[in-house]
Amino acid sequence: MRYRGAMEFTVQAPAKLNRFLAVLGRRADGFHELELITTVLEGVAELTDTLAGEPATVLSLAISGPTGEGLVADESNLVIKAWHLLEEAARRSLPAALRLEKRIPHGAGLGGGSSDAAAALRLGNRIFDLGLGDDDLLRMAARLGSDVPLFLLGGTVLGIGRGERVFPLRPVPLKPILLVHPGLHVGTPSVYRALQDVGYPFPEALASQPEGAVPPWRNDLTGAALWVCPPLAEVRDALRDTGGEPLLCGSGSCWAARYDSIQARDAAAERILRESHPWRLWRI
Ligand code: C5P
Repeated sequence: MRYRGAMEFTVQAPAKLNRFLAVLGRRADGFHELELITTVLEGVAELTDTLAGEPATVLSLAISGPTGEGLVADESNLVIKAWHLLEEAARRSLPAALRLEKRIPHGAGLGGGSSDAAAALRLGNRIFDLGLGDDDLLRMAARLGSDVPLFLLGGTVLGIGRGERVFPLRPVPLKPILLVHPGLHVGTPSVYRALQDVGYPFPEALASQPEGAVPPWRNDLTGAALWVCPPLAEVRDALRDTGGEPLLCGSGSCWAARYDSIQARDAAAERILRESHPWRLWRI
């Protein structure tokens, strides 16, 4: 968090990469019981949103940035929802001028909205000196969405339950990654619903990964996401053709392909660029 004069503070909201997502079953409340291992992509500037704010007379949210187009700054925005939870905890209104600069694409499985919400909780707590502790913020984050708490921890995180019960893991090294966004938008609820159509339970759940071990590169939502959005397969196949191991990011639509070396990853990126697909690429 950076203090920038007057009362303005800025918080970084990085993207995330799910490296292991096992669906263990469907719960009575309609959510799915998961085990997932996620790494927050700290320090990847081109995949990091920024939330800045200062006290004002009314609450406002301005959205800008390369991926801000089409986002609405109303009550449906997770930043505003997070702010209202802070107001509920503080038992007063917290009027502030907020500015969100978006770089993380939405509907991409990179957790952009969830990361913005976690950033809003941290920012409001700081600006208004609310004194909310980690446990309070984690509880509020879980109410905002299954993926919000992990952003409060950062680093590499084990998620259980809906994914909202989070535990820090020792850093687990990532191989060189090529992240591809095909510009498709896949709705998370429709992918979870489609799990029934593609059939599950899945093989073994592989619960309780040994601490520090590289988790299996696995995402049990892949079949359901392909069912909902068949064109995702084109991206997977193109990445396989470059020798990469593609893994769907969350419920899509990004794929993260891992390679054994930076050279192999960079050669794959060059090849994909030469094939002139309308996709966006990031090297991680
Ligand atoms: O918690 P969040 O709001 O991110 O969840 C979005 C949707 O994804 C839920 O409404 C639900 O349909 C689905 N979901 C699920 N099981 C989870 C997480 C999400 O079924 N563990």
